[in-house]
Amino acid sequence: MTAGDNCRVFGGGAYCPLLVGLLWGSLACSVLGDAVEVIELGNNWMITNQNGSLSRDDQTLPSGIYSAFGPQVLHSYNDIDLRWLAYDNWTYSNRFQFDVHHYKRGHINLTFHGIDTVSEIRLNHQLLGRTDNMFVRYSYDVSTLLQTENLLEVVILSPVLAALSRAQALDKDGKSVPPECPNKRYHGECHMNMLRKMQASFSWDWGPAVPSAGIWKNVELEIYEVAVIRDVDVDVRRNDSHWNMHIRCYLDAVGKENFYGRLILYAVELLERPVVVETYVSKSISFLAPVIEFDQAVPIEKVVTWWPNGYGEQKLYPLHFTLKTWIGADGPEIRSKTKSHKSVGVGFRTLELVEVPAPDGLGNTFLFRVNGIEIFMKGSNYIPSDILPELQGNEQIGHLLRSAKEANMNMLRVWGGGVYESDYFYQLADSLGILIWQDMMFACAMYPVSDDFLSSVREEVRQNAKRLSHHPSVAIFVTNNENEAALVQNWYGTFSDRERFESEYRELYLANVIHELKIVSHGSRPQPLVSSPSNGKASEQDNYISRDPQDNHNGDVHFYDYLKDAWNPEIYPRPRFASEYGFQSFPGAYAWQRSKNDDDALLPLLNHRQHHPLGNIPVITLVERHLPLPMPEDENYPNALIYFSQIAQAMATKTETELYRSLRDTPHNTMGALYWQLNDVWVAPSWSSIDVYGNWKLLQYWARDFLAPIAIVALYDRPTNSLNISLICDQLQPNTRGLMVTANVHLWSQLLPRNSTSWVVTLRPNGVQYDKVIPITELLNGDFTIYNAFLEFQLRRGQEVISRTYFFPASIAAAIGIEDPGLEYEIASRTCLTTGNVIRNSISISIQVKRPAVFVYLELLKPYRYTLSENGFMQTTPMHVVYLTFDATSCARLLRKSDLRVLTVNDFMK
Ligand SMILES: *[C@@H]1O[C@H](CO)[C@@H](O)[C@H](O)[C@H]1NC(C)=O
Ligand SMILES: *[C@@H]1O[C@H](CO)[C@@H](O)[C@H](O)[C@H]1NC(C)=O
Ligand SMILES: *[C@@H]1O[C@H](CO)[C@@H](O)[C@H](O)[C@H]1NC(C)=O
Ligand SMILES: *[C@@H]1O[C@H](CO)[C@@H](O)[C@H](O)[C@H]1NC(C)=O
Ligand SMILES: *[C@@H]1O[C@H](CO)[C@@H](O)[C@H](O)[C@H]1NC(C)=O
Ligand SMILES: *[C@@H]1O[C@H](CO)[C@@H](O)[C@H](O)[C@H]1NC(C)=O
Repeated sequence: MTAGDNCRVFGGGAYCPLLVGLLWGSLACSVLGDAVEVIELGNNWMITNQNGSLSRDDQTLPSGIYSAFGPQVLHSYNDIDLRWLAYDNWTYSNRFQFDVHHYKRGHINLTFHGIDTVSEIRLNHQLLGRTDNMFVRYSYDVSTLLQTENLLEVVILSPVLAALSRAQALDKDGKSVPPECPNKRYHGECHMNMLRKMQASFSWDWGPAVPSAGIWKNVELEIYEVAVIRDVDVDVRRNDSHWNMHIRCYLDAVGKENFYGRLILYAVELLERPVVVETYVSKSISFLAPVIEFDQAVPIEKVVTWWPNGYGEQKLYPLHFTLKTWIGADGPEIRSKTKSHKSVGVGFRTLELVEVPAPDGLGNTFLFRVNGIEIFMKGSNYIPSDILPELQGNEQIGHLLRSAKEANMNMLRVWGGGVYESDYFYQLADSLGILIWQDMMFACAMYPVSDDFLSSVREEVRQNAKRLSHHPSVAIFVTNNENEAALVQNWYGTFSDRERFESEYRELYLANVIHELKIVSHGSRPQPLVSSPSNGKASEQDNYISRDPQDNHNGDVHFYDYLKDAWNPEIYPRPRFASEYGFQSFPGAYAWQRSKNDDDALLPLLNHRQHHPLGNIPVITLVERHLPLPMPEDENYPNALIYFSQIAQAMATKTETELYRSLRDTPHNTMGALYWQLNDVWVAPSWSSIDVYGNWKLLQYWARDFLAPIAIVALYDRPTNSLNISLICDQLQPNTRGLMVTANVHLWSQLLPRNSTSWVVTLRPNGVQYDKVIPITELLNGDFTIYNAFLEFQLRRGQEVISRTYFFPASIAAAIGIEDPGLEYEIASRTCLTTGNVIRNSISISIQVKRPAVFVYLELLKPYRYTLSENGFMQTTPMHVVYLTFDATSCARLLRKSDLRVLTVNDFMK
């Protein structure tokens, strides 16, 4: 269907809705009061526990029991001490008035956009329904129940006990579904998989158990006559002359009779005139699955293409839809609330997942091609921005996504143990050019397949897929995290009943989740994948349960190795796409101070929050290989451990990511690297690069460099005792004029390079230039040894250093010549810039040294979210300036030197 067949286009070029109204007389818009009306019930909620001993009034939505009764849950040991909240039942009640006479006609629905999780809803003491899926919107027709004075009650059951009772019921039927409980070190709750609730609520290896309960999204009264537009999906495809938008408007309707409608599309920047879809004026819309579908073409010259971050603009075009609906042949009546609106931003791009025989002849490629260009996906994994769903606000989301963009990321994976993120999240990803790998919310568990469970899952998939699908950022849907691997590697003891679990796995993900995802199948998005990791397309031959879902030659892999030397590139696999890999570190000492009581000892708290089954052993093992960690008795031990953990993590992730990037143009054809994990939910040992306060760990600063569009990589190749120098370029038309690589040999004991060689180089556009293989002995000979020297490689044009990397040939702990650098620093200048009620403080810090300072680390000891121009850097020049910026409500003129902590590895050398 093209536009001409079913759309009437206005003559005359008028574009204002008022004129539309005049042209269409009483049938169209601008008759006052004919729009669907929404009344938010966001205020004056009261929360009471089961026996009435506790209550809070005057609560606003979104709300949850932990933010209402235990706002300090992330402080000290409160994750344990406040756990009782999750064992009680809680009633949310709201008394509201309603003008029943004013709203005599039409229908009134009470719509809950998100209840966490198992609840019973009553209006004026009548049961409206029960909920058990926090990812589902529940809507009830309350037209006949509303009175002038109303009492709305939502009784929320203890999530922990609700999960337990479901697990017991399954057990009784001989249908238990593992895992029962998390590892003991998680201090977690059991049976997360029984509830359609953020799986990480019951604890994870990076997060506390905070089994939330509450109303985490809006509650509304929707007053309408026939139908409302709930979601709009736009599938864009292009041919030689046009972009075609295949538009689907998903409606929610009264639900008893078929109806008619007229839809108007306004797209000011794309179409000269509004488009009126007339098809459904005479052809009825089915109330069973109400949807309005049509095509609208736009000449390609009118469109600026949408690109991922780093490749071009993120142009978004607003589309605005107005729908009028009616029942019966006579058309709508004038004052009825028949008009519904919806606006979305559409980005024009093509996106394919290319899985064709790989250059090494051993399986398939796994790469994303956007607008015809093969793009290396670089980024990270995103966990919920707050452990409490009601607190997942725009500010923190905005900071995290902007941090991802600043670190040159172009993809984030929204991981399956969290939530389907908010509209704001995806809108921002659209406008920042961050592609989203969207897991469906199933992670690290088997799941029930009872009829109730599956029907709830289908509704969840339908609603969320329809809501998210139009976003240009949403690149692919994947139905679960690691559940295929768990099944075939027997993580949860499923081999005891293998056939049953395999058949249940297929039933859930293939027959239900994938089946429902078909409604949002796009020409500009690949088909959903079943699991991550998986063999991608090749897993079809195995009916989606492959012997080795971690096959390096197909699909994506997750890779963790905690005991080998993670600074050595040799230990890593060479996959097509690495969608998870990473290392733990500890957030800064000041972050710990903010999250503990004065009398909490640091190390016991750190150990309590260390959920890794191996404890701190992986972190300490890696640190001790390379850095001079003091003895635990040493008073400097905690500071050193924290600081070194961040260096170790940053270096390991840099090495692994650089290896993956450098494999792009080899027969391995690696085309993606998403490290685990971008963000944190509390101050704890974790794999994150940004702490819970939004402050960047060293990894995030380093990621900005090792993910840069143009980057030099020097990877050690042990078999040949050489360095492979590769030049990575994500630009399509790089400027290669005058490019040189300079190799500097530094002594640990002296500033400035002691020897230096340079050579002319070039770049390979959107690819990797394999520049040179240099034997170590060529650079380190004579007076230079692997112990007294280290190497620096610069990619430069004249004096401009475009990218820089270092190679440390031996353990830094064993290096010879690292001494007190004689470091002095001072606050050189400060400025305050006021915008609105926010004051941006910019401070320059000049750092002077007499000898090389190793991994200079700065930390602000004030509760601001701050950014440094760089951190964890090698200072091999006498003087270096670093810029610190933070927003505050005042101009921090009083910030003193002592409000900064400056550390170097030198400080800990014996
Ligand atoms: C009421 O519930 C609270 C919180 O669960 C509990 O501490 C208290 O003992 C209960 N009171 C009675 C009288 O049962
Ligand atoms: C919560 O409700 C459940 C189900 O009605 C009940 O079994 C349980 O005893 C209640 N919990 C409390 C603390 O009252
Ligand atoms: C109102 O609720 C009824 C009953 O749950 C449902 O069938 C209908 O689709 C809802 N209407 C809207 C606009 O969501
Ligand atoms: C391209 O799409 C436009 C709009 O849908 C259509 O009119 C045109 O015939 C198409 N061209 C080709 C070559 O298919
Ligand atoms: C270094 O390059 C050689 C030759 O191209 C290659 O075989 C080897 O795998 C590379 N090693 C690393 C660590 O990149
Ligand atoms: C400096 O490096 C060059 C090139 O690698 C080498 O020929 C020369 O011997 C080196 N000089 C010293 C003092 O090591």
